[in-house]
Amino acid sequence: MTQYAINGGTPLHGTINISGAKNAALAILPATLLVDGVCRIENIPKVTDVTLMLEILRDVGASIRLTDDNAVLIDTSGVSAGSVAPYEQARRMRASYYLIGAFLARFAGAQVAMPGGCNLGVRPIDQHMKGFEALGADVQVKAGSIHARAREQCLKGANIYLDVQSVGATINIILAAAMADGLTVIENAAREPHVVDLANFLNSAGADIKGAGTDMIKIRGKKSLKGGSYAIIPDQIEAGTYMAAVTAAGGEVTLNNVIPKHLECITAKLEELGANVEEYDDSITVRREGKLRKANIKTLPYPGFPTDMQPQISACLSSAEGISMITESVADNRYRYVDELKRMGARIQVDGKVAVIEGIRHLTGAPVQACDLRAGAALIVAALGAQGTTEIGGVYHIERGYENIVSKLQGVGANIRAEEVSDSEHLASGKTG
Ligand code: EPZ
Repeated sequence: MTQYAINGGTPLHGTINISGAKNAALAILPATLLVDGVCRIENIPKVTDVTLMLEILRDVGASIRLTDDNAVLIDTSGVSAGSVAPYEQARRMRASYYLIGAFLARFAGAQVAMPGGCNLGVRPIDQHMKGFEALGADVQVKAGSIHARAREQCLKGANIYLDVQSVGATINIILAAAMADGLTVIENAAREPHVVDLANFLNSAGADIKGAGTDMIKIRGKKSLKGGSYAIIPDQIEAGTYMAAVTAAGGEVTLNNVIPKHLECITAKLEELGANVEEYDDSITVRREGKLRKANIKTLPYPGFPTDMQPQISACLSSAEGISMITESVADNRYRYVDELKRMGARIQVDGKVAVIEGIRHLTGAPVQACDLRAGAALIVAALGAQGTTEIGGVYHIERGYENIVSKLQGVGANIRAEEVSDSEHLASGKTG
């Protein structure tokens, strides 16, 4: 198995190019099912979740051609109404549920495995189902798959109020409504950048979607959409993760290919911790020289502090002066990484949605295990600021959402390497005498 070995304590210096946004790509790639003709999607991140989505699209009949400049040419004309994504593949990732909205839009019917993905506690899809039913589909779960079928020839526009500002439900309803008959209004919609990116992609193909980025989105269904070219936005959370890495390790790093506005809340919080961030048109420079300071964090839907940055900033706060409090108000259970940080000396008490962190002078390296994507990223952030060597197992979680993270960090002077070890070797390195 592969593990990352990190010798911490070295400040980072240099430049990192940020890749395309994983969560935007995972919405836009299935959206090509709604489009006639070839779509050229650019700035695709080379991460395993995106590779899996492309494999699923190929399996349902799309022709996929990767170019050498992080773009993909997709023609979904070969996909038929009865196409079903392979169960074992679709269940490995949460975003495969976007195929339901896309198949409903194009074929008025869908069959997709119940979603998998990061274990963040209970992750229901009741708001997705509510949206599909409002649009005129019957939805049921049979043998582990979701079966949806429009009651009439096609879906009908509807007013839908989301009980939770769900990113996934907002995206899935946009997909289903984009070719429905009439007007759909989503109220209490999610406002994340990748919701806006999906709407921009569909509008570039001729859709009529207004209000994306606000909590009310209006979609007037169209009979057909035409393929073209579209570039995915930069990844807000990848950028935030590297900002946290510099905050933990110290130094000065410039991140290229970012949208500073998407990072505003992350920037504000990391500056509270003692980082300094300079913003330019499509890049930012992050530096941290002095001591790390405590801060209180509450995760919120965009534009609040993103839940996907909660583990990484907790890693920074573990060696900040004073007591910090984290309130995770979005995900159901997102503190599974805390036990691994404790192996590095972190002093963190978790009680339900709240974690209280007593900062210590510095963490110390240890063998640890990633348990989900952002938890793995947090262990890298912690290891970069720690004294000594940390070995991180379960790196397949990390590679689901971070393109070339080892080489990107090596490029700014981090002492990190990927190495092949046997399972017992990794676990044994953690055994005390
Ligand atoms: C997306 O997940 C992201 N994944 C997650 O990022 C991210 O953590 C999350 O949005 C919040 O920003 C992708 O985009 C592929 P939600 P999603 O629906 O859509 C509850 C990463 O690290 N809820 O906004 O599943 C739900 O339980 C991943 O890249 C319902 O109650 O998130 C959660 O508590 C991890 N009913 C809250 O809403 C529903 O029908 C937010 O979930 C749907 C969601």
